[in-house]
Amino acid sequence: MPKQPINIPDKPTRPVVLPVDYIPENLRGELQTLLIGEWQLAHRVRQLAQTIEQDFADKDLVVVSLLSGTVMFLADLIRHLNIPLHLDFMGVSSYRSGTKSRELVYTKELRLEVKDRDVLLVDDILDTGRTLKSVIGKLRQLKPRSIHTCVLLDKTARRVEDVQADYVGFEIDDMFVVGYGLDYAERYRNLPFVGVLKPEMYEGGE
Ligand code: IMP
Ligand code: MG
Repeated sequence: MPKQPINIPDKPTRPVVLPVDYIPENLRGELQTLLIGEWQLAHRVRQLAQTIEQDFADKDLVVVSLLSGTVMFLADLIRHLNIPLHLDFMGVSSYRSGTKSRELVYTKELRLEVKDRDVLLVDDILDTGRTLKSVIGKLRQLKPRSIHTCVLLDKTARRVEDVQADYVGFEIDDMFVVGYGLDYAERYRNLPFVGVLKPEMYEGGE
């Protein structure tokens, strides 16, 4: 993993974009930038975990993670949470084949009891805010004691709904990103870094 001589502050941070030659050769036709490398991800996720660990140390924590984009982020986050917690998943899909959000469909319901517990809702990326708004509304009906939200990425410029995340890994500009769990048409989730998809990969595909 390439080392980077950077000091990442303990707050939502702007990624330090890496030179194009950091993109694996076989992906240079599809990705335009390597936005957040493995080292930055690891470092920032560990910082988030430390903050969350302190904030939830004496709470009754239930981590509710949204499928499937959170797989890598969640795994890295919770392995550094040295506090008791419960973990459950909700499936929610905006039923899109491409880059534009559409109607929300729930594909998996929560199974654990969250009543009177402290929920930490984890998603990969906060974009228009429609997903988090809908999920928070659904969770509220289950009467948890508290609901907090944690996202790896925040595209503030695209917000339509009035939602903010309590814990944010990186704030990014309005561009379509893939990797580290995030997909385009179910591809790229396995990349160990976050990259920006070339617009020609999705333009005309909608
Ligand atoms: P929102 O409902 O518009 O806030 O969108 C949230 C969901 O859209 C996320 O959970 C992602 O699944 C998806 N999404 C939004 N932007 C991106 C992106 O740049 N790359 C991959 N998925 C995205
Ligand atoms: Mg998602």
